[in-house]
Amino acid sequence: MSGNQAIQHNTGKFMKHRFLQPSVIELNSRALENNIRFLKRIAGKFVRISSVIKGNAYGHGISTFLPIAEKAGIDHFAVFSANEAYSAIRHKNKDSTRVMIMGMVRDDEMEWAVENDVECYIFEEKRLKAAIAAAKVNKKKASIHLQIETGMNRTGFQENEWERIFEIVKANYSLLSLEGICTHYAGAESAANYFRILKQDRQFQKAIMIAEKVLDKKPAAHASSSAAFLTHPDKHYNMVRIGIAQYGFWPSRETFIHHIKTENLDEGFDPLERVMTLKSEIMSIKQVKTGEFIGYGNIYLAGRDMTIATVPVGYTHGFGRNLTNTGYVLVHGKRCGVVGLVNMNMITINVTHIPNVQKGDEVVLIGKQGNDEITVASFGEMINNLNYEVLTRIPDSIPKIVCSNA
Ligand SMILES: Cc1ncc(COP(=O)(O)O)c(C=O)c1O
Repeated sequence: MSGNQAIQHNTGKFMKHRFLQPSVIELNSRALENNIRFLKRIAGKFVRISSVIKGNAYGHGISTFLPIAEKAGIDHFAVFSANEAYSAIRHKNKDSTRVMIMGMVRDDEMEWAVENDVECYIFEEKRLKAAIAAAKVNKKKASIHLQIETGMNRTGFQENEWERIFEIVKANYSLLSLEGICTHYAGAESAANYFRILKQDRQFQKAIMIAEKVLDKKPAAHASSSAAFLTHPDKHYNMVRIGIAQYGFWPSRETFIHHIKTENLDEGFDPLERVMTLKSEIMSIKQVKTGEFIGYGNIYLAGRDMTIATVPVGYTHGFGRNLTNTGYVLVHGKRCGVVGLVNMNMITINVTHIPNVQKGDEVVLIGKQGNDEITVASFGEMINNLNYEVLTRIPDSIPKIVCSNA
């Protein structure tokens, strides 16, 4: 039997099994529509929303998230690198949907980007030259965004380069489509950075003015991510790049408080809805007697007779080891604490207080169940992490399904 036949034979034999992954991520398309509506209302008619889907759409999965965002009215997506752009253009359904790379493009990937109408950030003269060369090869304009250094000190053209770069763009108009000039504020989610951001914005406006003078027309501009968008309505320019908020999370508690204060809303009212629910199921249940240790070592001592359930989720699924003895999950709509060490693929939870708990019962790790909810924020705070880090650490191997639960 050849190797291929052996594989086919085995595949056939096991076809009746479903081999479901132990956990699943549900993306709620209705929640996403709500968030996009909310963001569009703030942006108004004339400001475009670019949906930031870097970091595998903040753990939501580019391939699943992009099509539902497109359906919800998004026509521009921002990624970090060429490989993410490749994934984005493979999963978009509309020709008019644009993809923009904000970070890494190797010079040799530029030709591919131009060929596929992918917009690229340009922050070095060498990259600008690579874009011009790629446009010549493709006999097609390269769509570019000139990134301006305004004080973040990461990437972007320094002030002493601005005029020369704008001149190069002007001299190569037949090969370049200048989609915008842009910058990034250094931490608008914290009031501590308020004056730094004002200073950055003054620099940005100066760059726009010089660009207008050199290019004889005012270029489109964009600078704000979720936090600046929500707290600095005067800095929306022509486009905003929204990541975390579209997924239903506030960039910080401060941003949330700022919003409810300025809109005069009740503190308990959150206009954003979480798009993601991360769930698993109970794998096994057992009784543990008072005085027994649970799991590895002597991390958790049962202080009374307990009912313990194992859940097939561990640090390999982004459930950090630091949630040992402190994290919690939802079963039957009730909070159940993690007892003992978080393992690679498993956690043990205390279900003593859940009557009729059974193997196969749903376990929610992030999201709603009954009247309770575990937000990534609380999940994050527990392990001293930002939403961003917790979300992007969720591995892509967890299958995603789209639902539209009310
Ligand atoms: C350049 C740039 N723009 C926009 C965003 C989106 O940020 P947020 O998720 O806070 O909206 C990011 C994310 O880090 C970014 O790096």
